[in-house]
Amino acid sequence: MEDELKWDDYVLDDYNFTEFPPGSLVVDVGCGYGYLLERLVKQGCRAIGVEVDEEAIAHCHSRGLRVLKAGAEALPIATASMDGGICKGVLPFTDEAQAFAELRRVVKTGGRIEAVYLGFGYYARYLLLGPSLRRRFYGSRALLNTLVHDLSGRPLPGWLGDTMYQSPARLSSHYAQHGFKLLRTTSSKKFMGWPVFIYHSLEKQPG
Ligand SMILES: C[S@@+](CC[C@H](N)C(=O)[O-])C[C@H]1O[C@@H](n2cnc3c(N)ncnc32)[C@H](O)[C@@H]1O
Repeated sequence: MEDELKWDDYVLDDYNFTEFPPGSLVVDVGCGYGYLLERLVKQGCRAIGVEVDEEAIAHCHSRGLRVLKAGAEALPIATASMDGGICKGVLPFTDEAQAFAELRRVVKTGGRIEAVYLGFGYYARYLLLGPSLRRRFYGSRALLNTLVHDLSGRPLPGWLGDTMYQSPARLSSHYAQHGFKLLRTTSSKKFMGWPVFIYHSLEKQPG
C-alpha cells in the first residue's frame, strides 16, 4: 500500500508564486529541487535558493541554479538586498519567528513574499486518514506539537517537535510583529472545515 495521501484536490495548481517583474532578485527559502527557481530564471528574474537538504541542493546545482546551503532561520543573504521572496511549504519545519525575522531582514521595503502554509486540516487529514500508523502518528505529533508550542512557547523536544501547522491567528501575530502586510489570502479546499493549504501574499512594510 502506498504510504502517502493524495493532495491533488487541495493544491491550487494555478497559484502563481513567481509573479515578479523581470530583473527582480528573488529568494526562494526552502527551494527543494528548484522548480520555482527555474521558472523565475525563465521569466528573466535573478533567483537564489536556500535549502538544507544536500540532495536537493546537488540537484539544483546540476541544473545550473544558484542555491546556498542554510536554514530559513539564518539566511546567508545581505540585508535589504532582495526584491521579493518565496516560502512554499517550508514554515512548518522551521522556527517560525526566526524565519519571519530573516525574511523581513533580507527583503527590501515594499518587497513581496509569496508563501503557502500547512493548516490544521493538513495534519488532521494525516491523523484521520493516514494510510499507515506511521502517517497517523506524523499527523498526531504535529497537532500535539503545535498545541504544546502555543501553550508554552516551546516545541516538543527533538524530532517530536520538528513540525507544526500554521493558524491564521498565529500568522497574523507574526505579520504584526515582523512588519508584513497581508495583501491577499487564498485558501485551498478545506478538510472537515479546517484549512489545509493557506496561500498568503505579503508586503514588507516600512519601519
Ligand atoms: C515540502 S518541501 C517544499 C520544497 C519547495 N519549496 C517546493 O515547493 O517544491 C519543504 C522543504 O523545506 C526544506 N527545509 C526544511 N527545513 C528547513 C529550514 N529550516 N530552512 C530551509 N529549508 C528547510 C526541506 O529540505 C524541503 O526541501
